[in-house]
Amino acid sequence: MKFFLDTANIAEIEEAASWGVLAGVTTNPSLYAREGGRLADFHDHVVRICEIVDGPVSAETVTLKRDEIVAEGVELAALHPNVVVKVPTMPEGLAATRTLFEKGVRINMTLCFTVPQALLAARSGASYVSPFIGRFDDISEDGIEHLGNVIAALANYDFGHEVEVIAASVRHPQHVVSAALLGADIATVPFGVLEKCVQHPLSDRGREAFLADWEKVKNS
Ligand code: E4P
Repeated sequence: MKFFLDTANIAEIEEAASWGVLAGVTTNPSLYAREGGRLADFHDHVVRICEIVDGPVSAETVTLKRDEIVAEGVELAALHPNVVVKVPTMPEGLAATRTLFEKGVRINMTLCFTVPQALLAARSGASYVSPFIGRFDDISEDGIEHLGNVIAALANYDFGHEVEVIAASVRHPQHVVSAALLGADIATVPFGVLEKCVQHPLSDRGREAFLADWEKVKNS
């Protein structure tokens, strides 16, 4: 499973990239707003992320009609070869995705919750399908069960182009564990979750013991 960072924070992206584990980034309007992002700077911000990350960088469309989404998608895709255009799951989004697919633009279909939505996203030409886990958990449904259903359903078919499942709306490392065991291609995670994924008290305790013993060796 590949790790994407789910953030628009440049410092977090630089730090995760420096670990050598970052395969891509997903942003959304809320994440950009959280960084105090201004409309006039949005394209520059996307390009800046693309220059840090050697992989797909999702930038989301914010229009609702197919022609507008297509125009926005073409504009975003022209910013940098790493850009993947994020399109929300809805009928106009499917129509726009088909047109953008035919123009060679890669699409990440976002806000995807159910198996039928994921099948339609893949059929419309999306290269990435993003089932949200945490938002299901928030309403007392099992997000991991829904993710597993999406992965199993998509695996039954050949869509004629590559379709990767991005486990999204990840809230904690146990979501990462479950997504990996289910065979998700990618998990897009907040930086805090990525940090937690590296940590284990036995790793800390073991390292401290090794270094303490090495002090004895140095002083012998
Ligand atoms: C996916 O690409 C979305 O940006 C993201 O995972 C949404 O997660 P949230 O439910 O934590 O906002």
